[in-house]
Amino acid sequence: MRTAVYPGSFDPVTHGHRDIVERAARLFDRVIVAVGDNPRKKQLLPVDVRVDLLREELAHLENVEVDQFSGLLVDYAKSRDCAIIIRALRAMSDFDAEFQMSVFNTELFPGIETLLLMTDKQYFYLSSSMLKELSSQGGDISRWVCPKVAEALAAKLKDEV
Ligand code: PNS
Repeated sequence: MRTAVYPGSFDPVTHGHRDIVERAARLFDRVIVAVGDNPRKKQLLPVDVRVDLLREELAHLENVEVDQFSGLLVDYAKSRDCAIIIRALRAMSDFDAEFQMSVFNTELFPGIETLLLMTDKQYFYLSSSMLKELSSQGGDISRWVCPKVAEALAAKLKDEV
């Protein structure tokens, strides 16, 4: 059985993420969407909320599981017997960081492969960080996320003020 892990901070999950998972689910027998913290970013939504929102967003996909992890991604992948990482690539901006991450992950876990899926052209500009900024300034983000996500983000941002 071919399993791939799609890790990310998903803070919050967007339609762009959903598109990647739907496509990965057609390529693999099983996809584990692994929600972790990115030490290089400040996360807004708690990890359990991000997991719940993803489970709701991806409930239509039978071969997809949503889980959370802490520590190194490669250790999590090993613990799940998985040697394939899926990551998404938008326009030009992501390439350097993704390339660097894949090299480090291979150094730490020889044999692990990173597969980069190009984002659909309608989402190439989309990022969770930009949606947090838009939402924090009262912008309408409903075309890029499901209603539950928009609500969770607005509620959290209100709490933070
Ligand atoms: O959606 P993001 O923020 O780009 O996801 C990044 C994430 C969470 C996949 C990355 O930060 C990660 O793998 N964190 C776990 C710690 C780790 O293994 N770091 C080494 C990466 S080379």
